[in-house]
Amino acid sequence: MTPRPVRRSLLALPLGMALAGRQAAAQALFTPASAPDRPLAEIAAGRGLVYGCAVTGNLLSQEPEFAALVAQEAALLVPEYEGKFASLQPEEGRFDFSGLDAVLNWAQHFRKAVRGHALVWQEALPDWARAALGEGPHRARGVLEAHMDRVLSTTRARIREWDVVNEPIANPPGSDVPEPPGNSGDLRATPWLRALGPDYVAIAFQAARQRDPTLRLALNDYGVEADTPWAEEKRQRLLRLLRGLRARNVPIDAVGIQAHLQLREAFRPEQFRDFVRQIRALDLQVLITELDMREPKPPQGDYVARDTAVALRVHAFLSAAIEGGVRTVLTWGISDRWTWLNREPAVALDNDTHRGLPYDWELKRKQMWRAMARAFLGQPVG
Ligand code: G3I
Repeated sequence: MTPRPVRRSLLALPLGMALAGRQAAAQALFTPASAPDRPLAEIAAGRGLVYGCAVTGNLLSQEPEFAALVAQEAALLVPEYEGKFASLQPEEGRFDFSGLDAVLNWAQHFRKAVRGHALVWQEALPDWARAALGEGPHRARGVLEAHMDRVLSTTRARIREWDVVNEPIANPPGSDVPEPPGNSGDLRATPWLRALGPDYVAIAFQAARQRDPTLRLALNDYGVEADTPWAEEKRQRLLRLLRGLRARNVPIDAVGIQAHLQLREAFRPEQFRDFVRQIRALDLQVLITELDMREPKPPQGDYVARDTAVALRVHAFLSAAIEGGVRTVLTWGISDRWTWLNREPAVALDNDTHRGLPYDWELKRKQMWRAMARAFLGQPVG
């Protein structure tokens, strides 16, 4: 059972706010009446959209309340961990599909689709693979191809879309997390880049296409959503990469925009809408693959005010994404109780949880849920 954080008591709030808490609480903007009481996947499907969320096999098997929410709300699942290199091939030549099969079996039982995440990434890479990638391009190519051979053949019948390469774009200067040295142009310095050179992205997509002619091949990245110089530079880097791949007829079908949004960052809907359109103009699908919201530390205001701020940003973001041509939206989890944001020391809140997913800690629908529903319906804020 997931331990509960110590809830912020009224005493922990500034006195004025505590007093206000005793008076009429701030009114929620996205009230229960503002959205139909139907599953998000059903609301989305009504406008030709797909809604889904990230899951883990452990949560699906050990947290029945989580499983019930996912069964009710999502049409599409993505394994938060079980599709990664470290999970699937922990030792060279020893493949372990047990974690992924648990998710796939659950999905099959509840008639959900599953997208794969992620074949080539610099994280969740087991030590043996990291070492092998350092042994030169021939060895690295062998590691890449052996992994794809086994994973794509084993999952072929049950996964029809994969994040082939995850997070290849180098972060511009001024990142929260310092970038390792050795970027190559727009590409981040990773073991894959060091082993195979800037061509590793094309090599990965070509290898996937050679193994499965109809698999949907996606490139997935983050940090391209906000109205900041940093995000604008990252958008341009991603567009340059995509245009280069397209110019060389590298087989790629889709781009996943992770959308780990940050409330503290400015957002301009028309800017993001136009960015999505620029990717669509390359004849690429665009998905929102990991939507959630990180609040500032400390979070601002009481729960109603926080939920309103999150909901307004999510509504603006999804409305712009859908107007730009996005047709698939996944959140990275479904309830604040299990968000990865609470597990990341750098962003976790003190004695509280980020309120960046559709359901709160007590598994009640939040304003964010209703904001998503209204964005799926093409309805304004309210
Ligand atoms: O280490 C254990 C491993 O021994 C065990 O076999 C496995 C299966 O239970 O779990 C592993 O534990 C952790 C795993 O999550 C499962 O909870 C790993 O230590 C931990 O590093 C891993 O963190 C995940 C992280 O990606 C790295 O893979 C987070 O849950 C997941 O939310 C996060 O998701 C990433 C996306 O893939 C890419 N975009 C950013 C996003 C957030 O960082």
